Order: sequence, then structure tokens, then C-alpha cells
Amino acid sequence: MNEICSSYSGRRVLVTGYNGFKGTWLCLWLKLMGADVLGIGNDLPSTPSMNEAVAADDLVRGMRIDINDYTKLAQVVADFKPEVVFHLAAQALVRPSYEDPLGTLSTNIMGTAHVLEACRHTPSVRSIVIVTSDKCYRNNEWVWGYRENDPMGGHDPYSVSKGCAELVTTSYIKSFFPHEKYGQTHHVAVASARAGNAIGGGDWGKDRLIPDCVRALHANTAIHIRYPTAVRPWQHALECLSGYLMLGAKLLEYGPKFGCGWNFAPIDMGDVWPVERVVKRICRLWGNGTYAVDKGVQPHEAHMLCLDCTKANIELGWRPRYTVAEALEQTTAWYRAWAENPDPAHMRQVTLDQISAYANKPEDNAQDESHERS
Ligand SMILES: NC(=O)c1ccc[n+]([C@@H]2O[C@H](COP(=O)([O-])OP(=O)(O)OC[C@H]3O[C@@H](n4cnc5c(N)ncnc54)[C@H](O)[C@@H]3O)[C@@H](O)[C@H]2O)c1
Repeated sequence: MNEICSSYSGRRVLVTGYNGFKGTWLCLWLKLMGADVLGIGNDLPSTPSMNEAVAADDLVRGMRIDINDYTKLAQVVADFKPEVVFHLAAQALVRPSYEDPLGTLSTNIMGTAHVLEACRHTPSVRSIVIVTSDKCYRNNEWVWGYRENDPMGGHDPYSVSKGCAELVTTSYIKSFFPHEKYGQTHHVAVASARAGNAIGGGDWGKDRLIPDCVRALHANTAIHIRYPTAVRPWQHALECLSGYLMLGAKLLEYGPKFGCGWNFAPIDMGDVWPVERVVKRICRLWGNGTYAVDKGVQPHEAHMLCLDCTKANIELGWRPRYTVAEALEQTTAWYRAWAENPDPAHMRQVTLDQISAYANKPEDNAQDESHERS
């Protein structure tokens, strides 16, 4: 990680979705590395929110801009003159995408096009990481992990929007930032990142498993789960963020050699847990808690979803540092700290400490840990 650190020190970095769950963690990490960060975001995704929990706006310059408004967005990008852009802004949830399909499609597809277009007209930009999702792939409900060259697809509007954001990104690469013209007609390298279900302190998103658990544990009520046997590639948010940071740095250094799609998710299939097992572990870590399975009819969600991360492992040298059990420990510890003392300065320090602990963890340890198989 030290190598990556030096890539960002003193760099102008734009983060869209800066005031969301992952965006806040990313901005704090970039500030730790000495980057000059500007954040763009819309409304806070929840109350409470990670952004407010750590008073991130005291540390990171942020602007409230709707990425559907191309004119405003382009002006801000042109004024800031970023060298690196991380695009995370999105309507990031599956169930709300059924309630507002047009808003989701617009923000996630056209919003991505607007970010790329604004970058196209800003000569300072050299490295762009577009964050989509593991849900961008056509889901065949099979046990194998999806690879980067599997077809895009999706069922619900959110998943489709992320598949489309991938296609938009490919179109911009081929049409405006072609690899063969890099260094001649342009100097922009673009990659997309497809990560699995991120967990970590500070997520209060609606209908997400960990926030649902935390809300119930705080209220001393039963956790309601919808799909107990659904399998997801759970990982600490810092895992995928380390992948995004690695990618952004590689694009800066090597250009389009790394300009393609990348999966970031658990590598060890023993870390791909069903929902019910995650909930049981959280209850155990919290010290109490009960859960109940909702029997009502639920909107469609993929049942089996895992990613193959061989490419990121071999070509980027990325691999997860935490087992899913460790990620759940870190997550629970964060929410416990917040429950005991929600002072934002304290929680910012807790968060920075977790980032430093992750960044300083020796890389091979994840493999050496004895994975729990209960
Ligand atoms: N959290 C996960 O498990 C997960 C998994 C896979 C992919 N992702 C992707 O990672 C990214 C970040 O996810 P998150 O969990 O932090 O989401 P979040 O809901 O916590 O934050 C979303 C962010 O996007 C911003 N935003 C939403 N609409 C906007 C608009 N129209 N204009 C400008 N900003 C807007 C919000 O203000 C917020 O900053 C998203 O692209 C999401 O799809 C997340």
C-alpha cells in the first residue's frame, strides 16, 4: 500500500458519491495519503450517515451537485482540474430501484456518461475509475464466479443500470480514449470496478443486511431477513476501496494497460457466506440478538452471486486482507464504538485507525488466518 500512497500524495482527486458510505471511507483514506480531494455528491444516503458520523466535511471539500445536471458537473470538473477521478455516485440500492426505476437508470447510466463526458473536456484528467457492481453481470444463478469477460445483464433496474454503466464506459474508451491512441490524441486511461457486497461501519442504507442488523440490535428487536440462503461476496469496504486505489494508481503509471473491467471480491470461496450465517455471526459478535425470516413475497433478487477475482489477483497483485469473519469483527467494532460514543471526532479517529490497521496488515496474512468453517 505504501507504493499506492505515494501515487496520491499531492494529487488532485475527484470523488463522486463522496458523502455516501464507500465514498466517505475513500475520501478519508485519500486524505490520509495526502491527496487534494474534491467530493461531489447529492443528498446524504441515510440518517444517520457515515459522512455525518465522522464529520467528513470538516476534512474533505464537498459540493452538492446532481450528476444528472451535466452543465454544473462539467463546470466543477473543469474548475477543479482533477488528475484522478473515482466515480461512485449512484442510486446504489436494488429495492429502491423498483420504486424509482427512471431515477435509478438516469443517475446510474446518464450520470456515468456525464462524468465521462466532463472528464473528456478536462485535459488534466489522466486516470478514471468507474465503480459499477457485481450485479452488472447477466446472472445465471450458477455456482461459479463471474469473470470480467462474461456478458453484462441484470433483472432489476439497479443491476441493469450498472450493466449499462459498464457499456457506456466501454463506449467512451473505444470512441474517445482508444488504447492505441494513448499518448497521441489523448492521455486518459479508464477502468471499471465491479465489487461485491461491501460491509463496514457507517452504512445505514435501506434494506441492506448489515444496516438492518445494526438497526434491530440497537432497538433490541428481531432482525428480519428476506433471503436467508442467498449467497453474496461479502467483503469489508476497505477491500474494494484498496482495489479502486490500486487501479487508479496503475492507470496513472501505466495508462491503458490496466484500462478494462476488474472484479474485487473474496478470493477464497470459504468467504462467500449465505445471509443467515452472516446474521448469526453478527448476533454472536454483538453479544445478543435474534432474527426471523420474512415469509412474504419479495421482489426478485439474485440468489447466487460470486465473482472470480483471478485477474485482479494475478495482474494487479490485489487480494483481500480480511476473511469475512474478520470483516464482520471490524464492522461490529465500528458500530459498537459509535453506540458507546457517537462523537464525530472520536468516530473519525476510529475510522482512520481501521484504515491504517487495514493498510498496514501484511498482505499474506489473509491466507494464513484460520478461516472459520462453523
Ligand atoms: N455498498 C455496496 O455494497 C456496493 C456494492 C457494489 C457496488 N456499489 C457501488 O458503489 C458505489 C457507492 O456505493 P455506496 O454504498 O457508498 O452508496 P451510498 O448510497 O451510500 O452513496 C451513494 C452516493 O451517491 C451520491 N448520489 C446519488 N445520486 C446522486 C446524484 N444524482 N448526483 C450526485 N450524487 C449522487 C449520494 O449523494 C451518495 O454520496 C455505488 O456506485 C454503488 O452502486 C456498492
